[in-house]
Amino acid sequence: MISKPKTLKDNSPKVYIKTFGCQMNKLDTELSVGSLSKKGYSFADNENDADVILLNTCSVRDKAEHKVYSQLGSLRDQKGKNPKLILGVLGCMAQNEGDKIFKRMPHVDLVCGTRMFSKLPELLEEISGSNKRILAIDEDGEVNFDRIVTQRQNRYNAFVSIMRGCDNYCSYCIVPYVRGREFSRAVTDIADEVKKLADDGCKEVTLLGQNVNSYGKGLAGKVTLATLLRTLDPIKGIERIHFLTSHPKDMNKEILEAIGELSGVCEYLHMPAQSGSDKILKKMRRQYTSAHYRELIEMAKSIVPGIKVASDFIVGFPGETEEDFEDTVGLLKEIRCQNSFIFKYSPRTGTSAIELVDDVIEETKKSRNHTLLELQKKISSEENRKVHGKSVEVLVEGESKTSAVRLIGRTRQNQIVAFDQPEGINQADVSSSMPGSLVSIKITDSTDLTLFGDYEGILPLRK
Ligand code: 5AD
Ligand code: SF4
Repeated sequence: MISKPKTLKDNSPKVYIKTFGCQMNKLDTELSVGSLSKKGYSFADNENDADVILLNTCSVRDKAEHKVYSQLGSLRDQKGKNPKLILGVLGCMAQNEGDKIFKRMPHVDLVCGTRMFSKLPELLEEISGSNKRILAIDEDGEVNFDRIVTQRQNRYNAFVSIMRGCDNYCSYCIVPYVRGREFSRAVTDIADEVKKLADDGCKEVTLLGQNVNSYGKGLAGKVTLATLLRTLDPIKGIERIHFLTSHPKDMNKEILEAIGELSGVCEYLHMPAQSGSDKILKKMRRQYTSAHYRELIEMAKSIVPGIKVASDFIVGFPGETEEDFEDTVGLLKEIRCQNSFIFKYSPRTGTSAIELVDDVIEETKKSRNHTLLELQKKISSEENRKVHGKSVEVLVEGESKTSAVRLIGRTRQNQIVAFDQPEGINQADVSSSMPGSLVSIKITDSTDLTLFGDYEGILPLRK
C-alpha cells in the first residue's frame, strides 16, 4: 500500500510504507502516515524514490514472515547503493522476531513493534542523526489511536479502531503475543473520531478489533458493542457502520438486536467459525461448539433479515481427520457464507498449538484448502445469482480500475457491485458527484465475487 498525504513538501524525507496483513495493519499504517506527516515527512510513490522504507508486517502465518524476509533481502542492493536509506520493519513481525531481524538482515535500521508506532517519528530522527540501529519492541509501550482524520486512504470510508489486542489465546494464534492484552478505547474518543470523519465527508465506518464482541471489558459502566453501536448510529453523515471481527463465543442477542434495529448498522457479520468439528474446535480453544455456531447463525437470520455472514476457516489443524474436515465442509454447506477466508494451518512458535504434532501433510492441507475454496466459490456464485432482478443499495466508491465508464461500490452486505455510469451525465460530473452517493442498482449479472447491474437513481441519505 502506498500512503500519500495531501500536502507534500519537496525537500522533506520521503517515506514509503508497504503494508502486509489485516485491516488493523492498514489502519496502523494510516495512523503512522498521519504522525509522520505532522513531523514534516512526505511520501514516495514507490520504494526507489524513498529515503525511508518501512514494511508494516504480519506474523499470523509463517508465509507472511517469509514474504517480508524475502522483500528485505531484495532491498539489500538498494541500501548498498544508498547507505543513507533507512529501512524499518514495523508491527507484528517486528514484535515477534525482535533482534532476530537484525541478525538475519544486518542492513535493517529499525525494528519497531506493535506498541511503538507513536514513537516512529522520533525513532527515525534518532537513526538519521546517528546511523545507529534501533530495536523498539517495548511491551509496555502505549497503543496509538491518534489520527488526523483528513489523512486517510479512502474519502468515503474509514477504519476506526475500537479496541486493541486479544485475550482469547486460541491455541494456533500468535496475535495475543504480538498485539498484547485486550484494551477497549473509550466511547467518547471513538464517537469524537467518527464525528470528525463524518465532518470530513466519510460516509461509512468499519469498527475494528480482534474480537469486537467483547468491546467494553475494563471500561466503567455497562459499555458493550451494542451500546457503542447505539451511540454511533445517530451521528449525522455516517450512512453505514460495519464492525469486525466477531467471535462466536461473545456474540449475543443484544448485539444482533442492535444490528436489526439501527438503520446505519449493516447486515453483515465477519464471524470466523475456523472449523466444523467439535474435536478440532476444542483443540483450537475456540470455546464454542459447531452447534452453537449454527444457533448463532439461525438467531442472526431471524433477528436481522437479509444478514450475510463471512467466515475464516483453518484446514489441516493438528489431528484433523478426513471426518473432521467433512464436518467443516458440512458446516459451510449449511451456513452458506457470503465469503470465506481459508487458511492452511501454520504452526507458530510461542502458541500453545506448537506442542501438537503438525501431522496433516502439506499435500492434504493443500487439497482441503482447494476443496473448501471451490465450495465457497460455488456458494458465492449461487447466492449472488439469487440477487439477479433485485434492486440493491450501493455506496459508490469510485471508478473501476479496468474501465473509466464503470463505477464500483458495495452493498450493505459488503458485496462488490459494478455498474456503467448513468447515461446523460458527462464523465466529469460522474467522477465528481457519484462517489460517496447511495444509489439503487438493479442486478442483472454476477460472478462469485462481483454483482453487475444497471443504475436506477440516487437514493436519499439516511440523515
Ligand atoms: N495458521 C493458519 N491460519 C491462522 N489464522 C490465525 N492463526 C493461524 C495459523 N497459525 C487465521 C484464522 C484467523 C485469521 C485472521 O487467520 O482463521 O481468523
Ligand atoms: Fe487470534 Fe483467537 Fe484472538 Fe482471533 S480471537 S486474534 S484467532 S487469539
